Amino acid sequence: RAGYDLLVLANRLPVDRITSSTGDSRWQRSPGGLVTALHPIMQQHAGAWIGWHGQPGPAPDPFTHDGIHLHPVGLSEQDVDRYYEGQSNATIWPLYHDAVEQPVFDRDWRHSYRAVNERFAVAAARLAAPGALVWVHDYHLQLVPGMLRGLRPDLRIGFFLHIPFPPAELFCQLPLRDEIIRGLLGADLVGFQHPHGTRNFQRLARELVGAKLTGDEIEHGAGITTAATFPISIDVATQQRLADDPQVQARAVEIRRELGDPSTLILGVDRLDYTKGIEHRLTAFGELLTEGRLEPANTVMVQVAVPSRQRIDHYQALRERVERMVSRINGVHAGIGRLCVHYLHQSYDRAELAALYAAADVMAVTPLRDGMNLVAKEYVAARTDGTGALVLSEFAGAAAELRQAWTVNPHDLDGLKNAIVAAAYADRDEQAGRMLPMRAHLRRHDVNRWAADFLSRLEQPAGWTCAAA
Ligand code: UDP
Ligand code: G6P
Repeated sequence: RAGYDLLVLANRLPVDRITSSTGDSRWQRSPGGLVTALHPIMQQHAGAWIGWHGQPGPAPDPFTHDGIHLHPVGLSEQDVDRYYEGQSNATIWPLYHDAVEQPVFDRDWRHSYRAVNERFAVAAARLAAPGALVWVHDYHLQLVPGMLRGLRPDLRIGFFLHIPFPPAELFCQLPLRDEIIRGLLGADLVGFQHPHGTRNFQRLARELVGAKLTGDEIEHGAGITTAATFPISIDVATQQRLADDPQVQARAVEIRRELGDPSTLILGVDRLDYTKGIEHRLTAFGELLTEGRLEPANTVMVQVAVPSRQRIDHYQALRERVERMVSRINGVHAGIGRLCVHYLHQSYDRAELAALYAAADVMAVTPLRDGMNLVAKEYVAARTDGTGALVLSEFAGAAAELRQAWTVNPHDLDGLKNAIVAAAYADRDEQAGRMLPMRAHLRRHDVNRWAADFLSRLEQPAGWTCAAA
């Protein structure tokens, strides 16, 4: 049987189908860190990617984009409502992020989650060459490894979770808890962003399905699954090249000029998501302006807030709160022709983002919980001259690696304010003393190494004795 030797499965394809009001369609890069990380890897491997094309309705025909073979999976309106917006993003997403918003539970959503996972597994079973590597990604597809193992026992199946894997106390709220653990144990290798996630998974495998743990290996009914930590990263060389591009540098100068040449430019770049701590950041900024610790006439915050999951209640409510806060801060502290917060509810391409990174004196990354946060890594990689200051929440996976950042607990408002002020007034020696070791770390731990580590581990001999977990 012909087929692909390397298949990636993710809820989304790397490009979304966008249809304008006049009915014209085009492909646009999909949002989020998963796509940022996997896109360069899949380009190098010329592998195939199975995923949703971002619109309800039947799947378009397979096609090739940027050298990657794309195999769209269709989701009906109801699938989008129940599997994507419901089970994936209103149950699992908040629960896995420390329940910072209340997860919602719905029986119909679970049925749909199973059905869509089955659709992905069947597509992979059809497209994979004998003995192929199949790499399944993220929380939308946690049942796929087990289902695929049943369909194609010859495959090497890997799973990587891009978001945190929660402690048992939270995870056990999920009615699907046993199914998810068994689903994940269908893989040969399960990877997490942080050792906490790996340990949480091992404990749950022991407690929920009676698995036996030996080092990294989890021995269960049908075989052995390895669980290990693989912190994801970025394409550092490309980010640096972009940062050094004269056009990007000229644009950075222009951005500062357009903002009125402030003495301090503070930048936030996030999907508009309640896990990102945008409100905490704005509260801190507003208080610092009020107290005069940051000078309103000389300080500007640019907040890029990429539209995300806009039909889900929690996201709509967040947007309203954030927009109210921005207008309140500007109402009090801005002047004619001079805003304090530039709030951009838009998505930018990589060149414009690189210019923003180059222009920013302080990058504020303050999530309440985040699997990794690639924006933090992109800022560090973009600061090729060793200047700039990163304020980073200890609850982002990136904090385990970027140890020289100004680390903050975003719930500690005074601590957050002190860190922003310290970062804003740090001199060049202090900036370089922190930035250079973080840059050195990233050069050693880029996305190519992440993928090579995962895939080489996946290729190691199997511990499987029979067909299904
Ligand atoms: N990003 C982008 N355009 C934007 C804002 C963000 O391309 O206008 C990218 C950003 O460069 C990063 C990704 O989106 O690669 C966000 O990844 P991150 O891990 O920080 O967060 P996620 O959105 O995956 O939760
Ligand atoms: C995070 C998730 C990804 C997801 C991305 C964008 O990075 O880990 O799986 O694709 O957010 O979210 P969306 O719901 O628009 O795909």
